[in-house]
Amino acid sequence: MSTEEPLSGRSAIVTGASRGIGRATAHALAAAGVDVAVAARSEDELANLADEVAEEYGVHGLAVETDVRDERQVERLVQTTVDAFGRLDILVSNAGVLLGHQTPVEEIDIDDYFQLMEVNVNGTFFATRAALPHLREVGGNLIFIGSGASQSPRPYNPIYAASKWWMRGFAQSVEGQVGNDGVAVTLINPTEVRTEIGGEEGNSIADRFDEKEILEPVEVGEAVVFVATRSSRATVDELHLFRRDKLHDLYS
Ligand SMILES: NC(=O)c1ccc[n+]([C@@H]2O[C@H](COP(=O)([O-])OP(=O)(O)OC[C@H]3O[C@@H](n4cnc5c(N)ncnc54)[C@H](OP(=O)(O)O)[C@@H]3O)[C@@H](O)[C@H]2O)c1
Repeated sequence: MSTEEPLSGRSAIVTGASRGIGRATAHALAAAGVDVAVAARSEDELANLADEVAEEYGVHGLAVETDVRDERQVERLVQTTVDAFGRLDILVSNAGVLLGHQTPVEEIDIDDYFQLMEVNVNGTFFATRAALPHLREVGGNLIFIGSGASQSPRPYNPIYAASKWWMRGFAQSVEGQVGNDGVAVTLINPTEVRTEIGGEEGNSIADRFDEKEILEPVEVGEAVVFVATRSSRATVDELHLFRRDKLHDLYS
C-alpha cells in the first residue's frame, strides 16, 4: 500500500523561479497538479513560465515579480498567492546567489558579501516568516534548497557555504518549532546542478561542467515533488542529492 499523497489541488510558491532549479521545480510541481506562484526579479521570464505551466499541465500559474531581499515584497508575494489560490500548501525557498567563488576571504568584495547574505539568508527568513501562518493552516511543506555545502567546509567559497550552514540550522530549528503543528520542513542538499548560477562572476556551473557530469535542475524538482508527496505523518528532514562521484572528489 502506498502512503504517497497526491498533490492535485494544492498550491505552491517557488522563489527564484525565473531559471535553473526554481524553474524546473515549478514545472515538476505543476506536472503533479499544483497551482504554482513563481517569484523572482525577471518579470518576462516569470510571465512566460506562468503561462507555460498553465498551458502544459492545466493548473493555475501566477507570476509575482519579487526581490526576496525586500521583506514587504515577500509579504506581498505570499498574500497575492493566497488571495489567488485560496491557500498555500508548499513554499520552496530556492532563490540564491553564488558570489565570492575562488576568492581569498580578504579579497571578497563587501557588496558581494552583503548581496549573498541578503538573498540566501534574509530572503529565506522573510519567505519562511510570511508563509508559515498559511502552511500551519493546512499542515503544509516548507522546503529549503540548501546545498552540498550546507554541512561541509568549502575552502573555495566560505561565504556561500556559511549561508547554507545558516539555512541548515534554521531549517532544523524551525522544524522543531512547527512540527507539532503538522508542518513538514525539509532541507534538500544538491551537489552541482547544471544552471547559470555563478554567471555573475563569469564562471557559471553550466560553463564548468559538461552535460551528464553533474545533476540537472529537473532532478531537484523531482526531489521536491517526492518530499511533498510523503504522508502527512512524515517529514523528509534532509535529502542529500549528490552526484555519485562528489565524495570521491571531496575527500580523495
Ligand atoms: N546550481 C547548483 O549547482 C546548486 C547546487 C546546490 C544548491 N543550489 C541552490 O539552488 C538555488 C537555485 O540555484 P540555481 O542553480 O537554480 O541558480 P540560478 O540558475 O542562478 O537561479 C537563481 C534564481 O534565483 C533568483 N534570484 C536571485 N536573486 C534574487 C533576488 N534578490 N530576489 C528574487 N530572486 C532572486 C534568480 O532570479 P532573478 O535573477 O530573475 O531575480 C533565479 O531565478 C540556490 O539557492 C542555490 O544556492 C544550486
